[in-house]
Amino acid sequence: MSYENITTAQKERIHYITVNRPKQLNALNKATIQELHHALKAANDDKGTRVIILTGSGDKAFVAGADIKEFADFGTEDGKALAAEGQKKLFDFIENLSKPVIAAVNGFALGGGLELAMASHIRVASDNAKLGLPEVSLGVIPGYGGTQRLAQLVGRGKAMEMITTAGMISAEEAKDWGLVNHVVAQDELMALAEKIASKICNNSGNAIKSAMKAVNANYTDGVDGYAVEVAEFGNCFGTEEFVEGTTAFVEKRKPEFK
Ligand code: CAA
Repeated sequence: MSYENITTAQKERIHYITVNRPKQLNALNKATIQELHHALKAANDDKGTRVIILTGSGDKAFVAGADIKEFADFGTEDGKALAAEGQKKLFDFIENLSKPVIAAVNGFALGGGLELAMASHIRVASDNAKLGLPEVSLGVIPGYGGTQRLAQLVGRGKAMEMITTAGMISAEEAKDWGLVNHVVAQDELMALAEKIASKICNNSGNAIKSAMKAVNANYTDGVDGYAVEVAEFGNCFGTEEFVEGTTAFVEKRKPEFK
C-alpha cells in the first residue's frame, strides 16, 4: 500500500512511522488514521521488526490533534462514530500490539496527538514539546482515550486539571508528571528513541509480547492482571527464546534471539 499522509522506513529491526502532514501540524484526519492502522499492523506482523518508532514530520509538531476541519459539522452520532472508530483502529489497536511502540514527541502533542503518544508504550520528548488536551476549548472532550489514559499516567487530579483548563504543559513538566520518560534537545530525540529501541531489540520478542500483555491486563475491565501474568509466565517456558536465554546465561554468553 502506498501512503499519502505518513512515511515509513526500516533500519535493521526498527520500523519508523512518521505522520507527514506538516502543513496541518500532522493533524489526524480519517485517511491518516487508516494509513497508521495499516502501517502499524504491517510492522507488527513483520518478523524482521522488533520495535516501532512513531513521530511527526517537521520540527514543530508531533501531532496537533484530530483534524478539527474534518469534524466541525458533525452531529451526535457522527461524533460517537468518530471516537469509536478511531479508538478501535488506532488507539486501542496500538496499546494492544505485541511489539513496543516508542512515541518520539518532537513538538506539539495536543488532543488526539497526545492521545496517540499515550496509547504508545514508551514516550520520549524533545525540549520544545508542548502537551495538552485542549478539547474542552472547542466544546468537545478528548475522544481517543484521553480521559482514561491521562488519568492512568499522571493521576486523576492532574488529569482533571489538564483536561478542564485545556492548558498545555512543557516537556519538562510532562517528565515531572510521568507523562514522558525522557526529555532531550530536538536534534537528539531520534538517537534517544533508537537507543531505547536497540536495548529492546537485545531481548526476547516473545517475552516482551507476554510482558506487555500482562501489564495491559491491569487496565482492562474484568481481567485479573495477576492471573494473566501467571499464564504468560508459564507460556514463556515453552519457547525457543526461553531455552536460548537461559542457556546463554549458563554458558556465560549473550543470548541470540532470532
Ligand atoms: N486540525 C486541523 N488543522 C490544524 C490542527 C488540527 N488539530 N492543528 C493545526 N492545524 C492547522 C491550522 O489550521 C493551520 O492551517 P492553515 O495554515 O491552513 O490555517 C496550520 O495547521 C498551522 O497551524 P497554526 O497556524 O494554528 O499554527 P500556530 O503555531 O499558530 O499554532 C497550535 C499551533 C497551538 C498547535 C494551533 O494550531 C492549535 O491550537 N491547533 C489545534 C490544537 C487542538 O485543539 N487539538 C485538539 C483537536 S480535537 C481532538 O483531538 C479531538 C479528539 O480527542 C478526538
